[in-house]
Amino acid sequence: MVTKINTIREGGKIGQIFTPNYIAKFIVKNLFDFIPSKVSNPQTLRILEPSAGEGVFIKFLLKNGFSDITAYEMDSTLKNSLVKLYPSVKFKFDNFLGSDLNEKFDIIIGNPPYLGQNYNAEIFQNYVRKYPICARYFVGNMDLFYFFIHLGIEKLNPGGLLTYITTNYWITKSQKTGIKLLKPHILDECFLLQYIDLSNLNIFEAARGQHNCIFVLQKKTEQEKIKKINKDIQIIQTVNANNSQKIGELQNKKIFRDLIQKVDSRYLKKYFSALTNNNLQRNHNWNLIYPKEVKEVVTKIENYCKKSRKVLKLQDYFIIRNGLILVNDNIFILKEGKDLKIENNSYYVQINGEFIKLNEFEKERLKKIYKSKSIKSYGYNNDSFIGYLLYFNKSEFNQQSLMKRKKSLEEKYPTLTKYLKQFEKKLRKILINAKENPEDFYYPRRGSFIRRTEEDGKDTLVDLEPFYDDAQKIFFKFISNENIFGYSHDSYYATSDTYFLWPLKNKNTDYLFTLAYLNSKLVYFLYKAKNIVIKRSKTKLEHDLTVPNLKAFESTEKKGIVDLIRTLSFLLINNNENDHAINTIQNIIDTLFFKLFDLDEIILNNLLSKYYNLPLN
Ligand SMILES: C[S@@+](CC[C@H](N)C(=O)[O-])C[C@H]1O[C@@H](n2cnc3c(N)ncnc32)[C@H](O)[C@@H]1O
Repeated sequence: MVTKINTIREGGKIGQIFTPNYIAKFIVKNLFDFIPSKVSNPQTLRILEPSAGEGVFIKFLLKNGFSDITAYEMDSTLKNSLVKLYPSVKFKFDNFLGSDLNEKFDIIIGNPPYLGQNYNAEIFQNYVRKYPICARYFVGNMDLFYFFIHLGIEKLNPGGLLTYITTNYWITKSQKTGIKLLKPHILDECFLLQYIDLSNLNIFEAARGQHNCIFVLQKKTEQEKIKKINKDIQIIQTVNANNSQKIGELQNKKIFRDLIQKVDSRYLKKYFSALTNNNLQRNHNWNLIYPKEVKEVVTKIENYCKKSRKVLKLQDYFIIRNGLILVNDNIFILKEGKDLKIENNSYYVQINGEFIKLNEFEKERLKKIYKSKSIKSYGYNNDSFIGYLLYFNKSEFNQQSLMKRKKSLEEKYPTLTKYLKQFEKKLRKILINAKENPEDFYYPRRGSFIRRTEEDGKDTLVDLEPFYDDAQKIFFKFISNENIFGYSHDSYYATSDTYFLWPLKNKNTDYLFTLAYLNSKLVYFLYKAKNIVIKRSKTKLEHDLTVPNLKAFESTEKKGIVDLIRTLSFLLINNNENDHAINTIQNIIDTLFFKLFDLDEIILNNLLSKYYNLPLN
């Protein structure tokens, strides 16, 4: 079939992308696995398709013996053909979100419209005004189809089933990103019976690159709620056999044929998630792609990460914070050849067209600054700094009054303050607009201090300049799905697209061992198993990544392994120019970690290839 596509919102159509035949056929057939056997006759069930489109779900519902079908569709241009094609269906050419809450169904099925709230705020405002269900469940950052889940749940009879194909991002989202009401509503009222991850298939031609899923919810009965009944979650993962590219439509059709015919195929993995319904958290990422055999390995790893029963996480050792946010990058990052001249170890800054020499104190206020792209395992590309950061430390004269502080700054750093004063008006305006103190226009906006709780329980403000300058530090990119951790014990300043691991307390951190661990294949495995993806501010790393307790490696053999890992880590820190050498040494480190954790490397590799598409090497 040729899928007909109308772009989103064209001509008042909202989220109109039609489902391919082979998908709708599967979703209908799949229902039979969940309809209780005592309901032998599909005709007795009341069915709802909340957003019918051209009626592809209706077609397959009718073919499979369902007959009591109600369908909503807002686009009136589809009316004639729908009514003509499916005369037995009770159509309502109206907004589903305004439908009667008392009208109940046994099965709700379809492909609701997807529309992000961020870019379509007006539509959402309008719905919130008009429809009580939207007023009740509106959350910033949500998607339109969340309303279709909320209202679907309300309209289900106890024991009834809801199955949709949607994007899959909501599954791994947590509280601040639009699922604040959705996940609790689902968990209070329903069981998640099945989750089919279609991440590596292109289903909708008009939305290439979109990641989709199919899920089945079952509404709980009052008894099930009272007894807090638990249920398993069946997972089906489509596996991309050729790893690199998404599979074409022909292959998609074959996958769904195999699914319908329940044929085992190398493109399909079926298992029960190690997480059950009662394990799902109301406001957190649901890491459903978590096979029991993967969990077994994770548990084994965690056994070495325990301190009196508690599993140690990265957050027990470090605070993770972005690098520096400046009031204006162009002003604060001086570029050699443009605003800055360096000759024979003398520095000159351009002010009103003239280059003026910096004094020795001022030279120290210019710091090489890097972006996250310079980060590599065990180090960074020394030459790839983007310029010199003008860094005044706000704590330098902080005993003094505001006026005096300004005066001291100008006396000690005459040229650099003059340089900034050229832009004073602009910088002040930026800060005022952001409701920040305009007197602070000399300083980095964020990233130069952290609040830390010390051993005595007191909160202190820690000045990060000495840490940036010459402490040991580990850092990583703010967008990444791989565990690449850089390191420096020299001056390393970075922009906010870099995350730094700052030591939590003034205690000695074993940097060599920690760095090797973070860059190891073991941690790569944990990234996959725990679905850790670093996305801007949404890092889950602190909470999700377990960190070994060195006390767990007490035997002479294990102590020897730990020492060897430290030595190799030291080697990599000091020689990370040659990629081939790095890989070779990293492989040895990986093997040592497997030994340390009593893990079988082959089993781990097999799991990575089986569930996470990592090619076997
Ligand atoms: C993603 S399409 C899917 C259509 C059909 N279920 C399918 O799978 O091919 C969503 C459909 O919902 C319709 N729609 C959008 N908002 C709606 C609403 N609030 N109530 C009813 N239908 C709506 C759109 O016109 C579109 O036809």
